[in-house]
Amino acid sequence: MTEAATTTLDRAAVEAVDPSGQAEDILGMPEHLRDALWRVESAGLEPHDAPGGLVVAGMGGSAIGGALARSALGDRATRPIAVSRSYELPGWTTADTMVLCASYSGDTEETLACYEAAGAVGALRTVVTTGGRLAELAREDGVPVIPLPGGFHPRAAVGYLTVAALDVAALCGAGDSVRAEVDVTADHVERLVAEWGPDGPEDSLPKSLARGLSDTVPQIAGVGLTSAVAYRWKCQINENSKLPAFAHELPELDHNEIVGWSGAPDLARFSAVFLDDADLHPRARQRIELTRALIEPAAASTFVVQTQGESATERLLSLVLLGDLVSLYLAVLRGVDPGPVEAIERLKEELARE
Ligand code: PA5
Repeated sequence: MTEAATTTLDRAAVEAVDPSGQAEDILGMPEHLRDALWRVESAGLEPHDAPGGLVVAGMGGSAIGGALARSALGDRATRPIAVSRSYELPGWTTADTMVLCASYSGDTEETLACYEAAGAVGALRTVVTTGGRLAELAREDGVPVIPLPGGFHPRAAVGYLTVAALDVAALCGAGDSVRAEVDVTADHVERLVAEWGPDGPEDSLPKSLARGLSDTVPQIAGVGLTSAVAYRWKCQINENSKLPAFAHELPELDHNEIVGWSGAPDLARFSAVFLDDADLHPRARQRIELTRALIEPAAASTFVVQTQGESATERLLSLVLLGDLVSLYLAVLRGVDPGPVEAIERLKEELARE
């Protein structure tokens, strides 16, 4: 039996590696969703029709809320919703577009560049941040700000950033309002927190998955609703567990990545997690099963996990919580602190010196 198989993942084990309380921040998602609804409402944003749709500009942990909001809305989006993770906005951004600039710190240079670019084309702008230069600029320009609470790592504010993007989408006419759905989702996620958190059983889904993924390089595959979640899992495994991980989506990966698996055993122990959803196209479900069977001989382990819940928002955020907890438990199994992201900070410092 491997060490991971016998390592306990209870509260004491988590606290031993988690001095900055990342576990509490992950388990706080239900409260974050409720607080986010209140914060957006308190910000008193006026509806602004944006026939050109919505661009969410942000990086890393601050961009993921836009991607998740776009997935949650799915075909309820009535106008284009794009996520810009770069210094530039899409070329089609005009005065008819709403640009939501999302930066937890408010000092991310790519997001600041997009804020300026949006101003230059006369786009409608909204900001979501804790402060920094972005909040200063927004105040100077009279741009509405959705205030985020301080004290988190940006990636832990995922509930806040998702709700902000959903509400701005509704306010600019890019999608239906899903405030009631978010409220119900908070209760749903609360039940999952009790089942999957450190005080839950040792054979709970996230603890078992973390043990199964331990000592492997995880490849996370999403499809439809779960594509953005696959990327979230990858990023959380990178940042919390301090491990390489990769994300791709079906059906596209059946046209390239599936071939590469044959060489995997020559390099390292790769594992695969397929993120399934009850509402998938029936052919997409068949692809999960067939792809899994094809890569299985080359993989250290493979898993299929299902979204849980009724609405798209419930199902989406159930898997976000699951991935966050898997990444936390992987950190515990490795004995690493899930909090610090030194490489990201060092890179930002080096760039600031240039
Ligand atoms: O997870 C992280 O810390 C990063 O991905 C940050 O979110 C990213 O560097 C952008 O910073 P900010 O969220 O402050 O805009």
